[in-house]
Amino acid sequence: MPEDGTVSPRRISRRTRGERTKRRERYLLSTGKNNCALENNEISHDISASSGDSAIYSVENNNWDKCQRVAMGNKIVSNANQTTSKPRDHLYKILVIGDLGTGKTSIIKRYVHRFFTQHYRATIGVDFALKVLNWDENTLIRLQLWDIAGQERYGNMTRVYYKEAVGAFIVFDVTRKNTFDSVTNWKTDLDSKVQLPDGSPIPCVLLANKCDQLKESLANNKNMEEYCQENGFAAWFETSARDNINIDEAARALVEKILEQDALLNSEAKKGSGQFSVTLDSNDQKNGRKSCAC
Ligand code: GTP
Ligand code: MG
Repeated sequence: MPEDGTVSPRRISRRTRGERTKRRERYLLSTGKNNCALENNEISHDISASSGDSAIYSVENNNWDKCQRVAMGNKIVSNANQTTSKPRDHLYKILVIGDLGTGKTSIIKRYVHRFFTQHYRATIGVDFALKVLNWDENTLIRLQLWDIAGQERYGNMTRVYYKEAVGAFIVFDVTRKNTFDSVTNWKTDLDSKVQLPDGSPIPCVLLANKCDQLKESLANNKNMEEYCQENGFAAWFETSARDNINIDEAARALVEKILEQDALLNSEAKKGSGQFSVTLDSNDQKNGRKSCAC
């Protein structure tokens, strides 16, 4: 207190970016502690701890390893699987990749935060976001979205980032044909570095983003269907993060594909060792939307 006895005005707290990042990291780690018990490389989910429709836990600029402890378990064990009456809880790691400035971060922000900005700030390394989906009354799905910087295509971290992913979006910008030309490189890189436990490629959906803008001549839809079939894409969508076009639909299509693969792997596992722990409810198919699969 000043010597004259007056009370000094309260200082307005302005946090630096570093402080904000640290707070987010602490929040992420504490969330991980509350929701996920890490034991022997397993992530065990307490479904009762989940709340709300969506949340974002962003760890900026290469601090991926802290989040990775939460994101990457060798096995995902759902508490919900212990009894049939409780809901099922799935955690899926999804990659979002594609050239610089194609709109990966914007798509994630739109999907998770329902928010868009024209302001471009290149992602450095990788960022993370978590989207919680109440898939149906018995199924809760957590999508852990890995927003990988476009410039990482030329880096050597992608093998680490891709580890344990079960699905991916590859994004290109319809106004820049060269970003479409790189799609096959991204897909080849992806398929060579991550596979499902049975060795098959992870489901991947192609996003032709910025469809609110004038397109640079790419291919017509018929050719795109062929292109997707030839290159192993599960589906493709024209999207706009700006105008919120087809983003929920694309995510739903990818989740449906992942659930399909999950069911296949589980049935094979039951025939074999019975080791796979993520199971599929029959309602997954019943309530899911049809995707525009190629
Ligand atoms: P990197 O992090 O560098 O790999 O880029 P990114 O793919 O994450 O791109 P980002 O989401 O940062 O978007 C790049 C620019 O495109 C930003 O200025 C966005 O506002 C803009 N943008 C993204 N999506 C759309 C869209 O659907 N329509 C329009 N018109 N602009 C978009
Ligand atoms: Mg980005």
